[in-house]
Amino acid sequence: MHKVVRFGVSLDRDLLEKFDALIEERGYANRSEAIRDLIRNSLVTREWEAGEGEVVGSLTLIYHHGSGVSDKLTDLQHQHAGSVVSGMHVHLDEENCAEILVLRGMAKKIKEISDSLISSRGVKHGKLVMTTTGKEVP
Ligand code: NI
Repeated sequence: MHKVVRFGVSLDRDLLEKFDALIEERGYANRSEAIRDLIRNSLVTREWEAGEGEVVGSLTLIYHHGSGVSDKLTDLQHQHAGSVVSGMHVHLDEENCAEILVLRGMAKKIKEISDSLISSRGVKHGKLVMTTTGKEVP
């Protein structure tokens, strides 16, 4: 059981009003919960920026159907089978496909794999979102 500590924060009134509006919009129960999330988010970002620990990444790729990208993406996933946990293919319309991959491993490696997929010829757009497995974040 973690010990809970209370602390005071001095803030500009306007800033606090904007923060209160934001947390209401996002559905937080109270300021404490919103501040806890901000702190956790900062810690997670630092963890993966530093390349320490294991991360989970979701990579979304958009590419033109029939451009040969599909085979190339499959080859790359086979090469990194230990890091690619799962994948989903969505046929968006007659011309476009989306590939959504879940990757798991060291941040540096996940970033490298994602960069090589995103920069593949024929990929129109790609975006990696990384988070942590949470082991180091209370
Ligand atoms: Ni498709």
